[in-house]
Amino acid sequence: MANITKRQFKRYCDIVYNECGINLTEEKWQLLNARIGKRIRKLGVQPEKYLSMIEKDPDELNSFLDAVSTNHTYFFRESKTFKFLDTSCRNIWCTACSSGEEPYSLLTYCLELGFEPSILATDISDSCLEKARRAIYPKKSLAHIPKHMIKRYFQKGVGKWEDHVRLKKHISRMVKFEKFNLLKDFPPSKNFDIIFCRNVMIYFDIPTKEK
Ligand SMILES: C[S@@+](CC[C@H](N)C(=O)[O-])C[C@H]1O[C@@H](n2cnc3c(N)ncnc32)[C@H](O)[C@@H]1O
Repeated sequence: MANITKRQFKRYCDIVYNECGINLTEEKWQLLNARIGKRIRKLGVQPEKYLSMIEKDPDELNSFLDAVSTNHTYFFRESKTFKFLDTSCRNIWCTACSSGEEPYSLLTYCLELGFEPSILATDISDSCLEKARRAIYPKKSLAHIPKHMIKRYFQKGVGKWEDHVRLKKHISRMVKFEKFNLLKDFPPSKNFDIIFCRNVMIYFDIPTKEK
């Protein structure tokens, strides 16, 4: 726990809101305390000092946003949305791809439909993008993937990786990952046939959604 005061909580919330559009409510006070507590202890600083650090240092700001954001995702999550995919969806943008499970699900789903789409997968979080590019996941994350697709698209880990699987290299290479902040960055000039903003827009307030 970082034991941040109400006033400091408000300043932290303003930073999160201004940087990534996420509106942290009062109930998130404990959560924020817990998540930044670890980082503050590691750096050996007080919450007030940490505020000035993230205001001045873009790398620390990145680590802070990483620590407070919710990255929960899994393969074939809310797969009912996949019914919008058909062979006309050649260019897909997955805008909050977290650790890659969503764009890899979209990709393998399209491959099963018989075509290879061009997928741009973006997220604000560097650490998520790193995991996504690595494409290594715990075995248990395969729970929602049909068996025949597991065989076709994943490789089993061996030795110390035996509890993990990896997307086959020629498959993971089909997704292009880039850092992108929905709130601040200039959208790609490319036209997309379908854009997924799943489980990120829900954290934005109405003015941010409209923007
Ligand atoms: C809950 S995950 C959703 C993952 C995936 N879309 C899904 O539905 O399973 C939310 C993701 O949104 C990202 N995110 C939050 N604010 C963002 C912003 N302003 N721009 C881009 N990504 C953002 C977070 O880093 C996180 O990976």
